[in-house]
Amino acid sequence: MRATPVCRCEQGSPARSALLALLALLCALLPMSGLGAAPRGLAHPQLWPRAHSVGLIDAPSEGFISDLLARMSLEEKVGQVIQADIASIKPDDLRRYPLGAILAGGNTPPLGGDERAPARAWLETARAFREIALEQRPGHVPIPLLFGIDAVHGNSHVSGATLFPHNIGLGATHDPDLIRRIGEATAQETLAVGIDWIFAPTLAVPQDVRWGRSYEGYSQDPALVRRYAGAMVRGLQGDPQGAQGVTNARVAATAKHFLGDGGTTGGVDQGDTQVSEQQLIRTHAQGYLSAIDAGVMTVMVSYSSWQGHKMHGNQSLLTGVLKGRLGFDGFVVGDWNGHGQLEGCSGSTCPAAFNAGIDMFMAPESWRELFDNTLAQLRSGLIPMARLDDAVRRILRVKVKLGLFERERPWEGRLDLLGSNEHRALAREAVRKSLVLLKNNAHVLPMRASAHVLIAGTAADDIGRQCGGWTLSWQGTGNRNSDFPHAESIYAGLAAAIEAGGGSVELQADGRYARTPDVAVIVYGERPYAEFAGDRHTLAYQPDDPRDLDLLRRLKAAHVPVVSVFLSGRPLWVNPQINASDAFVAAWLPGSEGAGLADVLVGDASGAPRHDFSGTLSFTWPSSAASAARPLFPLGYGLRYTDHAVLARLPEHAGPGVVASDSDDFLLAARTSGRWSFVLDGAVRMRAVDAGAVQEGGRQFLWSGDKAASIAIAGPSLDLRSAAEQGGSLLIEYRLDAPPAAPLVLTMGCGVRCEQAAGLDVSEVLQRAPSGVWQSLKVRLSSFAAAGVDLSAVQEPLVLRGGGALGLTLKSVRLSNDATGAITLPPAAQNR
Ligand code: BGC
Ligand code: BGC
Repeated sequence: MRATPVCRCEQGSPARSALLALLALLCALLPMSGLGAAPRGLAHPQLWPRAHSVGLIDAPSEGFISDLLARMSLEEKVGQVIQADIASIKPDDLRRYPLGAILAGGNTPPLGGDERAPARAWLETARAFREIALEQRPGHVPIPLLFGIDAVHGNSHVSGATLFPHNIGLGATHDPDLIRRIGEATAQETLAVGIDWIFAPTLAVPQDVRWGRSYEGYSQDPALVRRYAGAMVRGLQGDPQGAQGVTNARVAATAKHFLGDGGTTGGVDQGDTQVSEQQLIRTHAQGYLSAIDAGVMTVMVSYSSWQGHKMHGNQSLLTGVLKGRLGFDGFVVGDWNGHGQLEGCSGSTCPAAFNAGIDMFMAPESWRELFDNTLAQLRSGLIPMARLDDAVRRILRVKVKLGLFERERPWEGRLDLLGSNEHRALAREAVRKSLVLLKNNAHVLPMRASAHVLIAGTAADDIGRQCGGWTLSWQGTGNRNSDFPHAESIYAGLAAAIEAGGGSVELQADGRYARTPDVAVIVYGERPYAEFAGDRHTLAYQPDDPRDLDLLRRLKAAHVPVVSVFLSGRPLWVNPQINASDAFVAAWLPGSEGAGLADVLVGDASGAPRHDFSGTLSFTWPSSAASAARPLFPLGYGLRYTDHAVLARLPEHAGPGVVASDSDDFLLAARTSGRWSFVLDGAVRMRAVDAGAVQEGGRQFLWSGDKAASIAIAGPSLDLRSAAEQGGSLLIEYRLDAPPAAPLVLTMGCGVRCEQAAGLDVSEVLQRAPSGVWQSLKVRLSSFAAAGVDLSAVQEPLVLRGGGALGLTLKSVRLSNDATGAITLPPAAQNR
């Protein structure tokens, strides 16, 4: 047991041993007596402020719901409380399993298409499912279906949508009215494709930006999150105080993730938020107060724990606080398989989560088994009927309030709204307001529109990099400019503005130029990631990859004025990059409107600004790579063109936070280190799972088998030639969860030099491996070389590629120089 502040038991001198023994006894007894410290993870509703769901309850609707409830069968009620992912359910299934909701997860495509399918495919998907739910059949009460999606920066999973800056950028605008307008546009673009429920806004208040979801949060400042939460909910749903109240709301919004997702120790995704109840209230709960007051219809539960207890099972917070003290009248939805992480639960059974107050399970794949089990648990009394009725009432309430029973859908089918001029203009305004100017020595900015400008950096002409995670796919990786029909890269925006002003541009990612530029704009930064794939150990930007910094320094040495445009999902330690730049702009993840940068960076032909900077930091900027670093730039910092501040040279010592780069452990206890990250492409999902006693000690990968997909661990370039010569191998600790249904290739990535590599065939090894037990696979590095991998510059020490269904959990991936048990694998057949 951990010592509590009330009762600290420590070792002392022998002279005091008697006293200590007495104290120890008291320490053991106090928690049991009900005096002393409260059990950990137990909330006290009376300590919390009050809120109140506005507009969700009215007498006629409640009467209508009572009448429906009286006519519904037990099966129909159980159906309402389960949500399936459309990758794992067919419209037809709804005849037998009358589920209340469906969703499209981050990697889930519309029916019959892929993630990049045209918007119309989404509309058709929505209609196909809805139609079955509303069918008139004997003995069936038709109830409209809810369809949820992660429209987290615009309707960001759907091709052609307007992509707004991610929330961290919106935080820098400090403009709640802008947030409301973005909510309204997002709702329209979502309703247009027949989807009526949005899993946003994220109200996390990230305290440690090593967390991979930091960019989903508006600010580390709870007051700003509170001001925004209500504004976004009003924008998405409509004004609860307006003429119609929330009746015929636009879409249902979701305040997520309740509670404390941004407070986990070390910024670990799905981790433990070890703070007091007071701090939970003061820091993490603030957004919920205004969201509930604005009538938010749903709240999603966090994967994380509070004081060691998983939120999915925390009755005191879900029922006592949220539904009681905070007066929340909508429904509570679990996160993707979140219930399955409770002790004694799995994806297919979890009475504890339901009894704790979750009204709808998000059970993407296991919905069928969950349906049968939940039904049985109601019949046996393990789940009280009253609990079910309460949950179903809340869900029906949202459906009534959304007007789904009336089925007037004024926005549906208006595909012209996706990426409309009006919405793109709004996104561009948001980009302008989100930019934060950290340095502008010698007034390099704004640039004269008549100048000759070099545009360089790997992200200059890459819309996918501008958009980050949760863009078309879950991780946002693998997107090309052609995947964005209504979007402009930063380069394209700059070029248009400069050329219109009589200037000229050269685009060259690596910074070479034909004609000496008057100024160079270098666009670089983080590559897309989502959720735990973005967790980092250090705040240092690319401590092992000098390429961006080299480019800046090379230009500076050639006396070219350098403007850095830094794309990132969080503030990072970039002192060397700032030093190597004359101007430095934090541009966050701006989304589809690259032109918003040109609006501010490019002045008129004489160099007078067209738009000034107005964004200021909503997160502090770190002075070292350590997590608890003093701010280099505080909250609210941001220069304007009228400022004449000159930033002196910054220290370039990263401080204690940088992970030593001498290790070639690509993955340990399922965590990639600062220099390595996962890259997922295609129909494969990743999630954190426990490995034996180690919480989240494994990363599970599930290939759906719909089409080819790959996972990779990517990082700095490594020369593995001498390791191979010395008999080294790649050691993988794994557990097979479902054997490969089709050939699977294990290989390494080395950019174009590896494109022709056949890789190794691991199908046979895995086919023979027992399922469900941990084992290791040690593959000689020489076999990779024999299969065409150029070991001199390996950037992805692990790539697994296949087209069939497969379930695999990885615990660790590293190099080994112990040859015991190492095997040689055959090259894979070349025709893939
Ligand atoms: C995320 C949620 C998201 C859900 C559905 C989860 O993994 O934590 O934020 O809404 O998936 O895609
Ligand atoms: C889904 C996401 C979800 C994640 C949870 C992914 O495969 O596509 O929506 O958030 O799994 O781990």
